[in-house]
This record gives sequence, C-alpha cells and structure tokens, in this order.
Amino acid sequence: MPPHEKASALRDRKRSGPPISALTAWDYPTARLLDEAGIDLILVGDSLGMVVLGFPDTTHVTMEHMLHHTAAAARGNENALLVADFAINSYETAKQSVENARALVAAGAQAVKLEGGVRQAGKVRAIVEDGTEVLGHLGMLPQRVKEEGGYKKKGRSADEIAGLQEGAHALQKAGCFALVLESVVPAVAARLTASLAIPTIGIGCGVGTCDGEIAVTSDVIGSYPWFVPPFAIPRASVADEISRAVKDYIASCQTPIATGKS
Ligand code: KIV
Repeated sequence: MPPHEKASALRDRKRSGPPISALTAWDYPTARLLDEAGIDLILVGDSLGMVVLGFPDTTHVTMEHMLHHTAAAARGNENALLVADFAINSYETAKQSVENARALVAAGAQAVKLEGGVRQAGKVRAIVEDGTEVLGHLGMLPQRVKEEGGYKKKGRSADEIAGLQEGAHALQKAGCFALVLESVVPAVAARLTASLAIPTIGIGCGVGTCDGEIAVTSDVIGSYPWFVPPFAIPRASVADEISRAVKDYIASCQTPIATGKS
C-alpha cells in the first residue's frame, strides 16, 4: 500500500478503531519481526541514540545516524507505515526540513516525525506540501532534555495545558496525520485526544487516554536493562536471555579439547 494510503488508514482509525499499535525499530531484524507480528507503525526513533548507539540522550544523534538506521529498518518492513525521526537541529527552517525529509524518504522512510508545537507548524506544512506525511510529537520532547533538566511530565500547569492545546491544533491544521503525545498527564492527554480530528499515539500518558500506543521496543522486550522509564512494561527479558546464552557458550568454549585417544 502506498505511504499516503497507509497514513490515511491510520488517520481513519480515530473513528473506526481499533487503537493504533506502534513500536520503534532501528535495524533489519527488529523491523522485520515487528512487521511480521502485525504492528501498524514502525518508528525509526532517535531513541536509537541511547538504546543502540550508547549515547546518554538523543541530542547526540545526527542525520547520518538516522539515514543509516532508516535504510536498515526499511529493508525489513513491508506492511507497517515506516516513520523516521528527524535528528536534533536538522529541521531548523522550512527549507532544511523539506531537504532532510526528502533524504529520509530516499533512505526508505514513508513518513517523518519532528518534535514541537506551534513553532513547527510552518515546517510541517512545507513537508506535507512537498508530498511527505508528518507525525507530530508533543509533550515531553526528548531533544530538549538538556534545556528542561530531565524527563518531566507535561500538562501540570494551565500554561502547559494551553501550550499543548495550541500546539496540537496547529500541527493538525498544518497537516500532521497523527500526533505522538509523550509523558502528558493522563486527563490532559484524554482531553487533547477528544479535541482533535487526528489520532493521538501515547507513550507514558496512562492507559486508554490516546487513540493508540507507542513504545521503545527495547523497553518492551527488555533488551536495554540499564535505563527503563517508569511507565515501561517489559514483556520479555531479552538481556537475561542473551547473558544466559553467552555464558552457556563461554562454558562450551572451555570444554577440554578431545585428544582423539581412546
Ligand atoms: O525516538 C523515539 O523512540 C520516540 C518515541 C519515544 C515516541 O520518539
């Protein structure tokens, strides 16, 4: 199915359901496994900077990283809508946003995602008019973690709630097909969801407050045990399985060499 039809089908799920399922992927096997399991949307998220590249946060991720991982994930995907994140500082102007959206699409992305509200509306419009679908991202913005001094819940004050409302409606008007809401107070996320015509996809916003859910795959499969967000629900422990298999392998390497003498 062409990217616009996939995005449009996801947009329609706001009315028709079922809720949208979305996960991140950063390489061929992860994307292929998610796609074969039937996920609706695969995000090549810049969280790959932490869970794959070993940086302390997403502010170290570059467009080169995003292009490289988008291409790998795209090779593993057939049916899901494959969305790629812009790297920090790679969408400063409308012109730069369009150029980098084109580069992500050339690498295999079927839509792009950027962080921020009202300030990004003009860039979203430019990218959409250029022919690429855009997923917005509001609430806690990981690319601003340094300015904000940590990962903080959003929607606690009247000012924050007004900013979220204004941003969400500006992004919708600019042409986003859906919005990620990250770490927004549940009641505020539910109100935003009810006020929008496009779907919201929540992470850390509580259960049943959005039109879908997104998670970082390493949190779901338990492959990055060194930092697990408080809202994450691990459903496997891949890290423990790797440790067990590697220890088993090491033990097998230490088995004495057979001499061949009887
Ligand atoms: O980069 C990422 O993984 C994300 C999700 C947290 C939505 O943006």
